[in-house]
Amino acid sequence: MIQKIKLTNFRNFREKLFSFSPKTTVIIGDNATGKTNILESLFLISTGKSFHAHLEEEMIKNSEDIARVKGRVTSDESMNLEVILTRGRIEVGDDKFEKTPRKKLLVNGVSRRLIDFAGNFKVALFGPWDMDLVTGSPSGRRGFLDTVLSGVDWEYRRAILSYEKGLRQRNRLLWQIREYPSAGSGRMRLIFWNQLLIKNGDYISQKRQELIDFFNNNEPMTMHAKVGMNYKLSYDKSVISEARLEQYRDEEVAAATTLVGPHRDDFVFLIGESRKTRDLSRFGSRGEQRMAILWLKLCELAFVEAKTSEKPTLLLDDIFSELDHDHRAIVMEIVNNQQTLITTADPHFVENFKVSEKIKL
Ligand SMILES: Nc1ncnc2c1ncn2[C@@H]1O[C@H](COP(=O)(O)OP(=O)(O)OP(=O)(O)O)[C@@H](O)[C@H]1O
Ligand SMILES: [Mg+2]
Repeated sequence: MIQKIKLTNFRNFREKLFSFSPKTTVIIGDNATGKTNILESLFLISTGKSFHAHLEEEMIKNSEDIARVKGRVTSDESMNLEVILTRGRIEVGDDKFEKTPRKKLLVNGVSRRLIDFAGNFKVALFGPWDMDLVTGSPSGRRGFLDTVLSGVDWEYRRAILSYEKGLRQRNRLLWQIREYPSAGSGRMRLIFWNQLLIKNGDYISQKRQELIDFFNNNEPMTMHAKVGMNYKLSYDKSVISEARLEQYRDEEVAAATTLVGPHRDDFVFLIGESRKTRDLSRFGSRGEQRMAILWLKLCELAFVEAKTSEKPTLLLDDIFSELDHDHRAIVMEIVNNQQTLITTADPHFVENFKVSEKIKL
């Protein structure tokens, strides 16, 4: 649970302290007042990453050198989580600069690696951009799986970091083999990277499979009863193995890129009863797609709770404009089950909520 957060030179905020209720806090503000930015700062101390910045330094207030986000969270005990961002250097005197790390992550003032920082404070975030999960690119869907699993599983965070690093190295090596075929040593080195990718890739696929199985078998009752709709995910797994890498070897060298493995995974949303399911991205109405996202987020909450016995803080960014009356009612029910922060530009949407705290921007 988050008690308070202090933002310094973060996005549009120079210096600002926000306190949150253990129940529901509504953040009300006109467009461009910083509602999404507050949720981004909470996501940042939860995961160590932004959910939408291309470059992390975009989060630093324009023409400033350092941004700080410091949050006080409680689960079993209280903890201070802090993220410090720089542009890689800070001015120390007239035209004198000192090199600085671009990102520092601290728990109770002690510097931590990303894998040890992430997951100390758990959030589930839901915003209008999530609608892209159904119809958007596979990388967005993989990102969803990674965010959920990384939040609850230290080993998954390690496997992902190791896999991504290995993938870059292996792709560079494939390029070298293509460009300098006579050098010879490349093929031996390839075996090393193959093994590293297979080992981590297996773990990643296995955990993604477990997550998807959980979602398919633990449909939250509220959602099911309310919408009477049957959603499922179908995992489109890109298996990585010795045999598969062998099979694609020549193509991989020609393309100088790794063609199989979890970085090529995807999943599709299916709707309907088991024998006649339809692909939601092609045959679903916009409304059915929205509901599917709500279903997905409910499953995410249930999954995190099952894995950690902790209820994540629910962050809802401006979702009411996307939902009709019945689906707003479903959201209103969920909101009472854990700490929730809701942003909206239109206070009418939240009139019927039991709101414990209001923040006006
Ligand atoms: N690095 C930055 N430095 C200064 N201002 C920034 C920075 N990044 C974003 N902003 C500004 O912060 C403001 C608030 O953005 P934010 O997306 O949080 O608004 P919002 O309240 O969610 O608005 P909406 O209701 O339109 O979604 C915007 O005007 C944006 O241009
Ligand atoms: Mg916004």
